[in-house]
Formats: sequence, structure tokens, C-alpha cells
Amino acid sequence: MTEAILLVGGKGTRLRPLTVNTPKPMVPAAGVPFLTHQLARARAAGVDHIVLATSYLAEVFEPYFGDGSRLGLHLEYVTEVQPLGTGGAIRNVAPRLRSGPDEPVLIFNGDILTGLDIGALVHEHESTGADVSLHLSRVEDPRAFGLVPTDGTGRVTAFLEKPQTPEEIVTDQINAGAYVFRRSVIDTIPTGRPVSVERETFPGLLADGAHLQGMVDSTYWLDLGTPQAFVRGSADLVMGRAPSPAVPGRRGERLVLPSAEVAADAKLTAGTVIGEHARVGEGARVTGSAVLDGAVIEPGAVVTDSLIGRGARVGARTVLTGAVIGDGAQVGADNELREGVRIWCDATIPDASIRFSSDQ
Ligand code: GDD
Ligand code: MG
Repeated sequence: MTEAILLVGGKGTRLRPLTVNTPKPMVPAAGVPFLTHQLARARAAGVDHIVLATSYLAEVFEPYFGDGSRLGLHLEYVTEVQPLGTGGAIRNVAPRLRSGPDEPVLIFNGDILTGLDIGALVHEHESTGADVSLHLSRVEDPRAFGLVPTDGTGRVTAFLEKPQTPEEIVTDQINAGAYVFRRSVIDTIPTGRPVSVERETFPGLLADGAHLQGMVDSTYWLDLGTPQAFVRGSADLVMGRAPSPAVPGRRGERLVLPSAEVAADAKLTAGTVIGEHARVGEGARVTGSAVLDGAVIEPGAVVTDSLIGRGARVGARTVLTGAVIGDGAQVGADNELREGVRIWCDATIPDASIRFSSDQ
């Protein structure tokens, strides 16, 4: 059995307003807090002890997941007084680890949806004798990530977090947010101050001649850091494109949680999820979207690739595309809201007040 650290303390700024009341890992994807999928996948790979490194809105994790026994896990929580950054958070939970100095410890960013073969990463780590092993993914535009070039044997040659200049874009391999650390390496991270594992620890280890091993894996991979990505990730879970043992229902075009009410002629497609006690009215069409608990979609509304927050309301005939509606917001009837719009929690948009076209 292996143990793991999950980094779940980030502010999730890019996901606002979804993360105003809820930390990013607790925003529901395919009907359950996103973190549930990561915990269930780790459990399925044989991990039994997980320490959650929390900071922002730390108090909501433990009441939901408790001691982890529901998921077959032993869960512990460690909260930073001040955010310590990714490396500081890892170091801060070290006293809770049970592994010996040479044993492997898994570390996961808390916002990644992936089909990574976790066991294969641990195996790669052990067979290469690396100090740290990293899951790498190939992406078209690597600028928002940590770039990780490797040599012919997979050994990491540099670590360039969020490259600023074209010359720094030396590879399309990025840090996919899953690591195996030799336990003793964690103990070398400084204590008591913020440390970025990406900007300080990895470059420092490389400068000291440590062995960092990269494992490129071309399985499903998505960072759910933006609303568009979050909505897509949820839909991919519902449709079974992204693997998780924690989706509460059968894979398919839609997932309707048991207490939701959906009109017989409403059309739910492309991985749409309808949360507990949510309602969808007659003739509404909801495509590739996540409708969170208690939200209401009124008759004739057309909702595409959007996220509707807890208890929010989308008025009759309103058209939403690529929109994020914060918890409790009220969007009146006959509005049209398009790509990138974010309606803040509890805001009110009156009937027939915003349009992007004049055709009606
Ligand atoms: N406990 C704690 N404390 N956790 C933190 C802190 C902190 O101060 N800061 C960030 N985290 C957690 C976040 O909650 C998230 O799960 C993880 O650390 C990574 O932070 P993000 O804010 O999501 O970073 P990113 O997406 O910009 O970049 C990271 O992930 C990319 C892959 O998605 C980096 O690791 C990149 O190198 C990587 O490519
Ligand atoms: Mg991220």
C-alpha cells in the first residue's frame, strides 16, 4: 500500500464565482465534489492513507469526507495558517506520513482529471531509482503549465514553470500534477515559509544533481482550473470519456440525480448533469452542462456548455452558452448570455435585459 498527499489549498481564482463559497476540489463534477473522483481513483490504485493539505475554505473538507472510511480510505487533514504554496504544503504534512525514508509517497494536485495509471508511475519510480518521478502530459499550448523537457531515458533536464518567453517553450511536455517523491526528499523542503515545488524545489533538486524521472502518458488529462475546463471535465465524466469509479450512475448522455425533477420533453445531452433537487422545465434543452443542486432551468431555456450554480435560476427561454451562473443568482426570462460571461453569486439579471443579437 502507498500513501498520498493531495494539494487542495489553492484559491481557485480562475474559477470564480464557482469558488466564492466552495473550494475548487469541492465543486461538484458529475454529481459529486470533484475531489471524490481523485480519492476514488487513488483508492482503486491501492492507496489507503491520504493527507489533504488544505488552506482556502479548509473547514468544508472534513465534514464531507470525514475519516474517509466511506471511500475505504484513511483520510487526514492538515490546514495551513498562511498558504504555504505547493512545496510548503507538502513539507507541512510530512509529520503525518508513515512511509520510511526510501519509500514512495504520491502527491496530487487537487484539480486534475486524468486516466493516469498511478501504479505505473510508482513502478517507473521504483525501477529507475529516481528521487522524484513526475507524470507528464503533452499539450498543444504549454504556456499555462510547468514545462518538463526530458532526455532519451526520460530523465528530467529542466523545469520551467509558466514560461514567459518563446525561447523558454522548449517542449510540449508539461507537468501533469502527479508526483512520486522518495519520502526523504520531502524532508529536505524548508519549513515555516511558502515554497513553490514548481519554482523552487524541482529546479533546486535538478541543480543539486538529483534524479527526476518523467513518465509521459497520453491518457485523458485535464486541469479543471477554468470554468470551460471544469464543465468539459464534468461532461466527460458523465459520458465515460474520463474514468472515475465515483460517478453516481450509469455513463451516458446525461446523469440525473435521484431527487431532481426533469420535464418529460426536456432534452438533456452531451454529458449534462442535473444535481439533487434541481428542476428542468418543459421544452428546455441542456447540452454539455452542469446544473448544480437546487438550481432551476425554466421552460424553453437553452443551456449549452455552462455551469449553473447551486440554487441559481435560469429564466424561461433564456439562452446560455459557455456561461457560469454563480450560486443563488437569478437570470430572468428572455436573456441571452454568451461565452465567458460570469454572473456573480446572488446577482439578479432582470427579464429581457441582455442580448447578443437582435433577431427576436
Ligand atoms: N495546501 C495548499 N497550499 N495547496 C495549494 C497552495 C497552497 O498554498 N497553492 C496551490 N495549491 C494547490 C491547488 O489547490 C492545486 O490543487 C495545486 O496546488 C496546483 O495549484 P494550481 O493553482 O492549480 O496551479 P496551476 O494549475 O496553475 O499549475 C500547476 O498545475 C499544472 C498542471 O495542471 C503546476 O503544478 C504546473 O506545473 C502544472 O503544469
Ligand atoms: Mg491547476
